[in-house]
Amino acid sequence: MRFFVETYGCQMNVADSEMVTSMLIQAGHTPATNIDDAQLIVFNTCSVREHAEQRVLGRIANEKHRKQQNPDLKIAVVGCMAQRMGKRLMELESGVDFVFGVDQYDKLAEILANDSPIQNHWTEMDNEQVYHGILPTRLNRHCGFVTVMRGCDNFCSYCIVPYVRGRERSRPASDIVKEVEEATLEGFRDITLLGQNVNSYQNEGMDFASLLRELNQIDPLWRLRFVTSHPKDLSDNLIQTMADCDKICEHIHLPMQSGDDDVLFRMNRGYGSRHYYDLITRLRTAIPDIALTTDVLVGFPGETERQFENTLELMRQIQFDYAFCFKYSPREGTAAAKSTDQIPEELRLERLQKTIDLQREITLHKFRSQIGKRVEVYVEDFSRKSHEQVSGKTRDFKIAVLSGTSDQIGSLVEAKVIDATAGTLICL
Ligand code: 5AD
Ligand code: SF4
Repeated sequence: MRFFVETYGCQMNVADSEMVTSMLIQAGHTPATNIDDAQLIVFNTCSVREHAEQRVLGRIANEKHRKQQNPDLKIAVVGCMAQRMGKRLMELESGVDFVFGVDQYDKLAEILANDSPIQNHWTEMDNEQVYHGILPTRLNRHCGFVTVMRGCDNFCSYCIVPYVRGRERSRPASDIVKEVEEATLEGFRDITLLGQNVNSYQNEGMDFASLLRELNQIDPLWRLRFVTSHPKDLSDNLIQTMADCDKICEHIHLPMQSGDDDVLFRMNRGYGSRHYYDLITRLRTAIPDIALTTDVLVGFPGETERQFENTLELMRQIQFDYAFCFKYSPREGTAAAKSTDQIPEELRLERLQKTIDLQREITLHKFRSQIGKRVEVYVEDFSRKSHEQVSGKTRDFKIAVLSGTSDQIGSLVEAKVIDATAGTLICL
């Protein structure tokens, strides 16, 4: 079958889609060049906010016409929403043929090959599942993801992830090292290690800092990154490791969520605003010029105006390079969804807009402060606007565009920043 995978949500889902692609190829199927050409469409879905789920449901419903024209077309839903809703997805009359939860992808090829499978929804959770020995088929040719752990044990009170992705488990370090080595042989020079909380990686007696030190020795590799770090588990040892290892990039994504101690406590985050601020200070002391990005969640149940202001204030003090801002979305089954003091939607929206506006100003300032500096760009592609320009990322995770030619794609280029928007460095 010719298949097409459409991915929603986080980088973990991108990595899972790359793995699903490998599994389907191994079973003899071929990737379709576009969705119109597909005999099987796989939607890899996200449950973290209701909006994400609604979008996918809308997309799937949209594909109904395709099924009317082509009754042989099969639709599979995988990922967090498949895990959360299971069989219910098949009862929506939107034409879903198969549902596979996050730990059941190894059944996919076998079930699809079977004309009359005993079951078409597979959502059992398997807290041991790490998909041993499956090498992903990566979409990007230069920057690759490598999953180091799956699941999450933190149970932040707003978050659905621990319920849909199950318990935290780390892949064996030897497998990770091998996979990174293999990726470098295929030409990947920029690797991002993935996990819901990479700082609690633990396997074969190795913690995350020792894993990074080992990966830093893989010579063909130029750049090593990781997401996501949790402020409660970010150790001084890890900060020192970042400072010591030349391949680890000068950037960390460290979700703050809130700047208010009471809200952080009720979110079950396991740290307060002082701890968070101290971490930032330690990171900036050990790694001068480190870029900081974060997630901010506003409108959490019971969040007062004053508490919201504390979040804005901490954002002003820290001056993140970028922040992903979200308004709280109640997720069925989580502790916060049961709270009786939900914030009205308009107020949540208003607070979200204020955080976005504040951060846009800070981001613009941060990007413009790079003007005049020399940066190292790993050129990944032509720029979106023109084939006379190429684009890539700096070590500190900023998108940069510069005039260049196709032979620069895949190489490191030294460039001078001459202008900037709140999202792109313009270089020469
Ligand atoms: N509503 C809104 N945002 C959420 N996130 C997690 N759960 C929710 C929710 N229920 C955000 C957090 C997290 C990011 C990946 O998504 O900020 O860090
Ligand atoms: Fe969700 Fe918290 Fe786990 Fe992140 S650390 S996935 S926010 S429960």
